[in-house]
Amino acid sequence: MGEKIRLGIIYGGKSSEHEVSLRTAMAIMNAVDSDKYELIPLYVQLDGNWIKGQPITGKLKGIDTLRLTEGNTSKCAPAHAGEIVPVQKASPVFGIGEEVDVIFPVVHGPNGEDGTIQGLLELANLPYVGAGVMASAVGLDKWMMKNVFAQAGLPQVKYIGVLRSQWERNQEEVVRRIEQELGYPCFVKPANMGSSVGISKAKNRAELLEAMNLAAKFDRRLIIEQFVKARELEIGVLGNEELLTSVVGEVIAAKEFYDYEAKYKGAGTELQIPAKIPQHVEQQIVEMAKQAYRALDASGLSRVDFFWDEENDQLYMNEVNTMPGFTPYSMYPMLFQASGISYSELIDRLVKLALDRHADKQRNIVAAEELE
Ligand SMILES: Nc1ncnc2c1ncn2[C@@H]1O[C@H](COP(=O)(O)OP(=O)(O)O)[C@@H](O)[C@H]1O
Ligand SMILES: [Mg+2]
Repeated sequence: MGEKIRLGIIYGGKSSEHEVSLRTAMAIMNAVDSDKYELIPLYVQLDGNWIKGQPITGKLKGIDTLRLTEGNTSKCAPAHAGEIVPVQKASPVFGIGEEVDVIFPVVHGPNGEDGTIQGLLELANLPYVGAGVMASAVGLDKWMMKNVFAQAGLPQVKYIGVLRSQWERNQEEVVRRIEQELGYPCFVKPANMGSSVGISKAKNRAELLEAMNLAAKFDRRLIIEQFVKARELEIGVLGNEELLTSVVGEVIAAKEFYDYEAKYKGAGTELQIPAKIPQHVEQQIVEMAKQAYRALDASGLSRVDFFWDEENDQLYMNEVNTMPGFTPYSMYPMLFQASGISYSELIDRLVKLALDRHADKQRNIVAAEELE
């Protein structure tokens, strides 16, 4: 490794969270110390094409400068992103091992935080920020994640998993089961989306049919959950095996639930940091968050989300987000800010954790012959 750490940032992505990713990438690029890092932009266009830009020097003024385009450097490339180098579609990261030391993948949702990019980076033997393949995949699949939580003995709201094919074959039976086991209102979610996309609350049978059909457009695996009237509490976890937790925060959504609009357009959503909750609830959250993080074998960072039914003082796991929103105004960085770790220090620590994890992995032998 040279003097500066060469940090490749993968952003954009074939994802509904493309724009969010651009914003996050810009915030990260503008926050890091340019004496410590050389920044290499790796843009995944909406259609899945990868483009590598020249190292970024100086502060970016807007996200549009990060929308690199093949063969149109004068119009679309920012002066500081310089010349654009198109990278082969099929093997975007294999050529860059010589040019970067570590990758920060800032891509959310399917094809981003679901283990696919992580798998590519593993194959390329590159250190990267955040969870590995398995934790990413499980963390993005609500069905699998619930199975893992159940196995770890973590409390959750009642749920049912249904395959799209089951739903299409026998709607009546599925509806009967949902009504018997969960009742109304219930939440219907595609297992594998994130950012509340395709999620709806159903208060009666007609709404349930609509909700199921909508969710089935996004995924072949569907989760239906009992509704719980609860406060939404979230905590940040940072680390590989030794874990640091942040203060607890609360999401107070003005709308009926914390949906996509509320999350990304800030429509009436308030983040209360730290959350005003009793100490025993906070302690429980810290313990459960670490348990959930370990159950998934997460690494780097995760935001762990809870439902707290205040009336019955009952805490439920909601989910672990292995690639939480990461703009300076997102919950995760703000939780750590309130815990004494600034945005740029957070990035430093994440890069260090990525390098540590990669180094630790290099210790594994891959064939018994190596023992001789
Ligand atoms: N079982 C539930 N009871 C009450 N509210 C829920 C339930 N499930 C989800 N919600 C609401 O919907 C939002 C999005 O659901 P969530 O499972 O967290 O999906 P995402 O992965 O898209 O964030 C939650 O933040 C919460 O406001
Ligand atoms: Mg959520």
